Amino acid sequence: MITLALSKGRIFDETLPLLRAAGIEVLEDPEKSRKLILPTSNPEVRVVLVRASDVPTYVEHGGADLGVTGKDTLIEHGGQGLYQPLDLNISRCRVSVAVRADFDYASAVRQGSRLKVATKYTSIAREFFASKGVHVDLIKLYGSMELAPLTGLADAIVDLVSTGNTLKANHLVEVERIMDISARLVVNQASLKLKQAVIRPIIDAFAQAIVKNPATS
Ligand code: PRP
Repeated sequence: MITLALSKGRIFDETLPLLRAAGIEVLEDPEKSRKLILPTSNPEVRVVLVRASDVPTYVEHGGADLGVTGKDTLIEHGGQGLYQPLDLNISRCRVSVAVRADFDYASAVRQGSRLKVATKYTSIAREFFASKGVHVDLIKLYGSMELAPLTGLADAIVDLVSTGNTLKANHLVEVERIMDISARLVVNQASLKLKQAVIRPIIDAFAQAIVKNPATS
């Protein structure tokens, strides 16, 4: 049996065409069922639904043989023990710095002020501000980052931006793009050796089906 770890939402939806290219149909809709293990049309393959940030952990420890996860999540996890054969070019977005529209970020950086930065992406944020020589106090959050500058918890946030609608709706502006993000296929290294006969064809089919330049999200 091969187990593929996916998170609900965009990654799940955008992985379906790749699975189809590998001849695999997921037989249940996660939006209509509360099941966490979904059968597929291939009796040798099943999908498990996990939190996005847990996908690398499942694959690292063999709870899943394969997974699809954002580059952001992989960087925060560290990526240890994971074979990363493919950038799937799906779930594209970016990690950016955003502040309240009335906060003068450029002056704060120029003056060497110490910035309070709220984020779920502490590794990415730490490395980015260190590379700029900006001193920051990082505040770890697990969601709704946009609230932090609005409530005075932080001066800035580091968060995913896709359409920019969430920032706009909360009167925040993007002041720096840190990196572009897309989702990757990750594979447990032992599984790759022991279950080659099933896993290799899936990797190859995914590789063939990658859309090279989808419209920027
Ligand atoms: C992400 C991110 C923003 C939003 C950006 O949240 O944290 O809140 O998407 O998208 P937009 O630019 O298209 O508005 P997501 O919905 O992935 O959930 P999360 O808060 O759990 O990260």
